[in-house]
Parts: sequence; structure tokens; C-alpha cells
Amino acid sequence: MTERRIIGDPAIVQEETLAQKKCGKRIGVVPTMGALHKGHLELIRRAKAECDFVVVTVFVNPVQFAPTEDLQKYPRTPEQDWELLKPMNVDIVFMPTEKEIYLAGYDTYVETGELSKRFEGKTRPAHFRGVATIVLKLMNIASPDAAFFGQKDYQQFCVVRKMAADLNLPVEIVACPTVREPDGLAMSSRNRYLSLEERKQAAAIPQSLKVAQNMRNAGVADAKEMRKNIQAVLETSPLAEIDYIAIADPLTLEEISVIPSMPQNLLSQQRGMRLLVPENPTPRAVVLLAVRFGKTRLIDNCLLY
Ligand code: PAF
Repeated sequence: MTERRIIGDPAIVQEETLAQKKCGKRIGVVPTMGALHKGHLELIRRAKAECDFVVVTVFVNPVQFAPTEDLQKYPRTPEQDWELLKPMNVDIVFMPTEKEIYLAGYDTYVETGELSKRFEGKTRPAHFRGVATIVLKLMNIASPDAAFFGQKDYQQFCVVRKMAADLNLPVEIVACPTVREPDGLAMSSRNRYLSLEERKQAAAIPQSLKVAQNMRNAGVADAKEMRKNIQAVLETSPLAEIDYIAIADPLTLEEISVIPSMPQNLLSQQRGMRLLVPENPTPRAVVLLAVRFGKTRLIDNCLLY
């Protein structure tokens, strides 16, 4: 791959984006770990619609994987990624090596707080420290005005948004709606690990979220009852092993027992806190779940209005 737009050296990306900023361009960044799919392409489309200069980063960040996790087998498909990226016409594809990102002796990490200890943080205690560290580095490298993340990783979005607010980063953190397969399964680079049978049964995840949304539309406010129904749908798949099902406040991620009829706080209206699609009102709750199918752990969520 010898294309002018692919850059590995952080200093070159930094120089180029700062120069573009000086010319008054709005810079957008789409951080990815590669193994690109339609979900990533949607993030890029959104970034291109909202920004004048778009940087897509492709880097499998070792710091967000625990030693027992799938870092070694995480799909790395740079050639295919480039084929997908070429027609998107982004301004820079930043594809650094591990050595270019973490120089010898690297020893500085972002310590994330309460938001990162729940749900994913329980199973993956060092995960969000790694995510926050790389995201902050990418922000410093590319100086974006906006950074685009998928709603599929809702907790990640919340942790990054909180870091940006707490550390006064001059960047808007934008979440884009989850892109789904025809049977509703959220697109994820990890879906390719699933066997045919696991893949078929994984459709129980979006089905269970649909049940939650239907219950909400029917006026159900009792989180326990909703959780029970979600669980019942997931249990129709013999291969599904539930890690967690949570119904939580969409901003603080604290678990709730009653879904409020009014949004609990208006934090989302603060700068840098644009929450999901602008046409949607503030959500009252988020349903978050993680389910294993064989060795593959899938996460998904939906917002309740
Ligand atoms: O969501 C991902 O792909 C990664 O966690 C991210 C945000 C690119 C950081 O490595």
C-alpha cells in the first residue's frame, strides 16, 4: 500500500492537521481498530458530512486488551480496509505501527473513573484506561473539532465523552447510530469469530432489545420486569451465555429500577455532549447487554425514550 493518504508517522499527521486547522478547516477524526465494516463506513460518512478534513485512524491498540483477551487473533485486514477506504476519499488514513504510537519507554496512561468500572469494566478492568489513553493520544495527534464513535460501544462513548469534558478537550464527541445486519445483529469486527450456528442464535440479542423497546412503548417503567423479559428472549438461544443485562441512566450509567418519565438531567445539552442523532429527544434510559456465544463476547444496547 503506497498511497499518499496513508500515514504512519504521528508527527506528519499532527503537522498536516494543524495546518488545515489554521486555514479554518473543521477537522473530524474517526478512530478505528481496522477490520472495517459498514458501521465504520457510516461513521466516516457522518464525519465527512460534518467536517472539512477527515482523518480515519486504523490501529489495534494493545493497551486496551488484557493478556487473556483476543489481541493476537484480533482481525487485521489492512489491504481490505484500504479497499473500503479508497472510495470514501478521506483526507488522511492514519495507520501507525505500535512502535510509532508507543515509543520505547512509554509510561503514561489516562486513569478513567466510575463510568469505566461498571459493565464492561467488570469483565475488562484495564480496558477503558487503554481506550482513553489511545483516544487522547489520537486527539493530540489530529487536533479534531469532532470525533465520531459508534453507539454500539455505548459505554466507551460515555467514557470518552466524560474524559473530553473532564480534561477540557476542545472536541465534540459524536455518537452515531449502530448499523445492523438484516436480522438486527449489530455490526462488529468480532462477528467474524462466530460459527454459523452461533451467528444464527446471536439474533436473539437484537430481538431482546426490541422487546425492551416495545415494553417501553407500551408504557412499562419497571426495569426489573423489563430485564426479566430481555433475559427470557436471550434464553431462547441455547448457546447464549449472559454476562450482564443492565438498565441504566444514559449519562451516568448508574443502574435504575424505574425508567423515569422525564430525562433525569440535561447534561447532554452542555458543550461537547451532543447525544446521538440530533432529531431524537434525550433518552430516559439505556439497556446494555453482553452475551457470550462460544468464545465470542458480543455487546449491544438500545436507548429508551
Ligand atoms: O472502538 C474501537 O474500535 C476502539 O476502542 C477505539 C475507539 C478505536 C480505540 O482503540
